[in-house]
Amino acid sequence: MPQQMTVTNPFKERAMIPIESDMFFGREKEMQRIAEMLSGDRPQCVSIVGERRIGKSSLANRVFHKIKNEGNTRAVYIDCDGIDGDCQTKERFFQLLNQAFCDAAKEKQGGNLFDNYSSFKAFVKKEGGNGVKTIIFIDEFEHLPEHSFADDTFFSNLRALANNPDNRLAFVSVSKTALKELTHQAVKSSGFWNIFEHVYLGLMEHESIVKLRRYGFEKTGFALTKEAEEKIQYYAGAYPYFNQVACGFAWDAGRNNATVDWKRLEVQLRPHYKEIWDNRKVEEQKLLKDLKGINAKEEFILNDLLVRGLAIQVEKTYSPFSGYFAELIDKLFEVKKKKLSEKKIIQHIKDGLDILLKGKEVVKGDKS
Ligand SMILES: Nc1ncnc2c1ncn2[C@@H]1O[C@H](COP(=O)(O)OP(=O)(O)O)[C@@H](O)[C@H]1O
Ligand SMILES: [Mg+2]
Repeated sequence: MPQQMTVTNPFKERAMIPIESDMFFGREKEMQRIAEMLSGDRPQCVSIVGERRIGKSSLANRVFHKIKNEGNTRAVYIDCDGIDGDCQTKERFFQLLNQAFCDAAKEKQGGNLFDNYSSFKAFVKKEGGNGVKTIIFIDEFEHLPEHSFADDTFFSNLRALANNPDNRLAFVSVSKTALKELTHQAVKSSGFWNIFEHVYLGLMEHESIVKLRRYGFEKTGFALTKEAEEKIQYYAGAYPYFNQVACGFAWDAGRNNATVDWKRLEVQLRPHYKEIWDNRKVEEQKLLKDLKGINAKEEFILNDLLVRGLAIQVEKTYSPFSGYFAELIDKLFEVKKKKLSEKKIIQHIKDGLDILLKGKEVVKGDKS
């Protein structure tokens, strides 16, 4: 089939799916929910939370493209992973933000809408007064508080701006951890986190996953066999990233007229599953090891696992989100040892010293 020899693997995306790609599926409900929160005169701040490679950036970017051309809206998308180490002052941050706004407005390089917090505040106030909404998407949000400029004042100021409805300003943060769980004190103490409405991104719906799997094969003139589809279900469940990897792998074999060597796929997938496992808290790991005997307290942990797409429920039983993940948990992954808090370490040392001292006294006593 010479025509097929020239096509490239459709399952090639590994990071944010480009807006023009036709390989983005599902997420309609989440997209609608976020868009609704941002619509209306007074937009609501939204925090998109989900595991690594569950599709947060791809989704956020699509919402961004949807709303950026709406009337009376200025929207920008910044990725905090890309903020330079030399961005050390608040002024520098606002200048970078200014550049993003100028790019979005296609103003010429070096355009100046604002260059520090107070001119940003004036800018937002003026825009809001003119009925214009300002929406700032902040991807990889957890990297923002790592910068020294992002202190309590920085977040308190942003919070105050977004809290004033007349400004019509909203942030859309994208992160792996819920904002209030970010360990950086500035996010907590400023109360910045509590102006957000959370949207948790979990596994994809069944129909969207089926489309993802079949469409790439069909559009390139290949058929996905039932047997391969079952294997992909085993290796990937409804986790979009694992599906893209597994489908891409099966597609390559199909193009080369070879049988799929699933054991080789395992080698590719295992480190990613390991990463998911290592990122779990001890309690979550313990629960994933035994999803059958759940007590009342553990129901809350289980609920988190279900919402985040790490576990699934089929009728009355719970299991890890894919057969392969279940097998790794059962045979390979171990529950990590709980880290001792500083307080506990000091207590242990004290207890040890106590025992030693008492021992010495006894020995002394014996001698005399
Ligand atoms: N809705 C989707 N449809 C198809 N593939 C997806 C979807 N969401 C995520 N993926 C797959 O997962 C990869 C990572 O997505 P990304 O949006 O970068 O995740 P995150 O930002 O959560 O780390 C994408 O490159 C793609 O392979
Ligand atoms: Mg991302």
